[in-house]
Formats: sequence, structure tokens, C-alpha cells
Amino acid sequence: MYDALKKELETYERRTPRSREMHEKSAHRVPLGVASNYRYYRPYPLSVKDGRGGRIHDVDGNEYIDHNLCYGALMAGHCHPAVMKAVQQRLEVGTLFGMPHAMEWELAEEICARFPVEMVRFGNSGSEVTMHSLRLARAATGRSKIIKMEGGYHGGHDAVSVSVKPKAHEFGDPENPTPVVSSAGVLRGTTDATLVAPFNHLPAIERLFAQNPNEIAAVILEPIMMNIAFSMPDEGYLQGLREITARHEALLIFDEVKTGAKLARGGACEYFGVRPDIVCLAKSIGGGFSLAAFAASRKIMDVIATQKMFHAGTYNTNPVAMAAGLATFREVLTPAAYTHIETISRKLLEGYRQIVSKTGLSAYADGAGANGALMFYPHRVRNYRDWYHADEELWTHYWFAMVNRGVIPQPYWWDEQWTLSVAHTEADIDRHLEVFAEIAPALAQAQQERNAVPAHTV
Ligand SMILES: Cc1ncc(COP(=O)(O)O)c(C=O)c1O
Repeated sequence: MYDALKKELETYERRTPRSREMHEKSAHRVPLGVASNYRYYRPYPLSVKDGRGGRIHDVDGNEYIDHNLCYGALMAGHCHPAVMKAVQQRLEVGTLFGMPHAMEWELAEEICARFPVEMVRFGNSGSEVTMHSLRLARAATGRSKIIKMEGGYHGGHDAVSVSVKPKAHEFGDPENPTPVVSSAGVLRGTTDATLVAPFNHLPAIERLFAQNPNEIAAVILEPIMMNIAFSMPDEGYLQGLREITARHEALLIFDEVKTGAKLARGGACEYFGVRPDIVCLAKSIGGGFSLAAFAASRKIMDVIATQKMFHAGTYNTNPVAMAAGLATFREVLTPAAYTHIETISRKLLEGYRQIVSKTGLSAYADGAGANGALMFYPHRVRNYRDWYHADEELWTHYWFAMVNRGVIPQPYWWDEQWTLSVAHTEADIDRHLEVFAEIAPALAQAQQERNAVPAHTV
């Protein structure tokens, strides 16, 4: 570890003693001291006290402009007044019944008005709905295998716990990646049914279909890969996937857990003008509450309507989350909100690009909708293996240096990205850029001293 990074880590530890204490206490009872493995990082994660709008406080009383926003679940910002009001009203009249209620079709109508789908089933998390979307694809096609992207994350269930973050020695052929299970405990044989392709590479998809005739139920992917920071599909890639899957009578599943609310009013389907067969939604559709959905055509959903496929859940459409979701769709994710997000996103991206260019840093900023990232890589990341070679030590320096100056630029880990909320102001973006401008020369110097490759244009 180089000196400048060491210094930032020392500063972090000096500013956050209570977070350390809390983490040490918690780790006695909670494995890793966190409730989700992603939340752990060294030396210890920040523990949070409260949040409002675009800002949070940690337990030591430090204030941050928050672009973690619960891993992208809060385009509404913290405690959005419309969401809070809807939830408070709901708390007075019952929180859980396990019985049908009017908000189910109301929210289904909202989703069908924005996405090219006809029917919706609800759940509580992204993992849940990607899991059910795969069962739906299998039930609707009568086939077993699926294709996912190398480096793609769709939650913690077995079928997608393959080649999430494989190591270089496990990679195999770049055009024919070796499927690698990503956790101990994944059912043996999972890699027989989960095939893996590199993102942005249509010939690999063609080959998998040719090698597995009439066996592939679906291709599942994030339209913009946001678990390798931020990687856009090449021009025509999603259209190509649409054509290939249709030709082979397999289904195309857009995992819009991250893009669904934040990219555009109608998510990636609208943004890229592509019509998948199944759409998965979660995170920002709930305005800060656990809400998720999977949606498809009437014909596909018929396997549930005719009881061929089982889908259930005690907490599905719990009225509190549904009230939050309705308020989010109607009062948060409005045309004006998307205009605001576009304005602050452009400002942030342009600001990053100017500072990067001025300091000679070999890095680039990319983004769309409410998401974006600073990538410590000399050219555009097109797939997992590009991202794998990004400079994680320099990214760590960037993250702690920003946090020490009051800006959480994104969740910890360099496979994540920033989220902008409707509560963030242009002044917040100015402050974010001011802080980045302050630390960028030290990043550039550290990069030069470590003999980084020269910058290329994106
Ligand atoms: C693209 C994508 N799909 C699915 C999930 C899983 O969602 P959840 O954490 O709500 O289970 C995530 C979580 O980050 C995600 O980024």
C-alpha cells in the first residue's frame, strides 16, 4: 500500500472511531459484522445514524453527501416527503394481511403503463424476482438452461451464482468463459444449467444456442452492466440479443433491478427501445422500502394464472411497501424528476471529465440516468475482463479520500456506481466536484508513481 492511501485510511480511522466500535461489537454476533457481504470492507464499514434527502450522518456525527443511496435503491433520496406521508397513512390502517387489496392492481397498472408488459407479480427483493423470472422462463419454454453474462450479478440464488466475480486463473477462453460457481454451498451441477457468455459479444451467444439446441430457456442480463461499475451495451447489442433469443424461441430477461427506475421512466426498455420478454424491477421502485416485481406478457404469465407455475410469498404486496411504491411511481419518478436527474448527471459527468483531463489521470467517467462511475481504466470497459483489470488500489484511494471530505461517491467496491437522487441539488454536485478536484492531483501523482498506462480517450 502506498503512502498517500495509507494516510487516507489513517484519517478515516481517526474520524470514525464509533463505527469501528460498532463493527467490532457486531462481528461477535453477526458474521463479518454486516447483514450482507457486500457491506463489509476494510478496515471496517461506516455505521449510519440517519439520513434525509441527499445526505446521511454516520454514528460519529460526520455528514456526507450520499451517492451510495443503499446501493442504488434510493433515487427518491432519504425520507422523501411523499413516500413518508403515504407510509405513515398506511401505518394507521394495517401493515400486513396476506390478502388481496386495491394497491396491487393500481401498481401493476403503473408498471404496465411504463414498461412493455401486460401482467405483474410482486416480491420484496431483486434476488427474489430474478429467481422467479428464471422459473417463469423455464415454465413457459419447457427448457432448463439459461445464459448469463460473465460478471453479471442478479442476486444470491444458486442459478445466477455463477461467474459473478471469477478470478483470472478461472477465466477460460475470453469468448467461451468457463462457468465458475461464486460461493461455497451452491448446488453441485448448477454450472450444467447456467451457461456463461461475455457481455457485448453476440457470436458467443449464437455459439451457446448452437451447442445447446432447444435447451436454453432464457438469456438474463442487466441492459447496462452495473455490477462491473458501469458498462454500456455496444450499439445494436441488445437488439442483437433480442433477435437471437426470438429466433431460438428463448426468452430475453432484462434485470432492471438497477436500471428500472433510474435510467428512464420506462427503464432500459424505453432507453434502448428494446422489448424483452420479462422485466425484473426492485431497488428504487420502492422509494426506500422492500418492493420488487417481475412482469411479462399475458401469454407468458399464463403459466402462473393457470397454476402450472408456483409463485408465493407471505410479504408479497405488503401494504406499507406498496403504498411507498405507489407514491414513488406517482410523485417521485415524474417527468420533472428525470429532467432534474439528467441536469445534475450531465453536470457531474462533465465535471469529472474536466478534472480528469486537467490532472492527466488515466481514468474516465461514464454514466446514464441516475447512475455513473469513475473508472480507473484507460479505455471503455466493455465486459467483465476489462473491469477486472481496473486499478482497485487507486479506486480505494479515491473512495476514502472522498469520504474523508464528506462525499460518499458511491457504495464501497469498485464494481459499484454512484446514484443521484431527486433530493440532490446542483450545489451538492458542485461540492462533490470541489472535493474531487481537491484529491485528483494526489490520485494522478500516485498513478504516475506506480507507472500507470497513459490515458486513452473513451
Ligand atoms: C442487477 C441486480 N439484480 C439483482 C440484485 C439483487 O437484488 P437484492 O439485493 O434486492 O436481492 C441486485 C443487487 O444489487 C442487482 O444489482
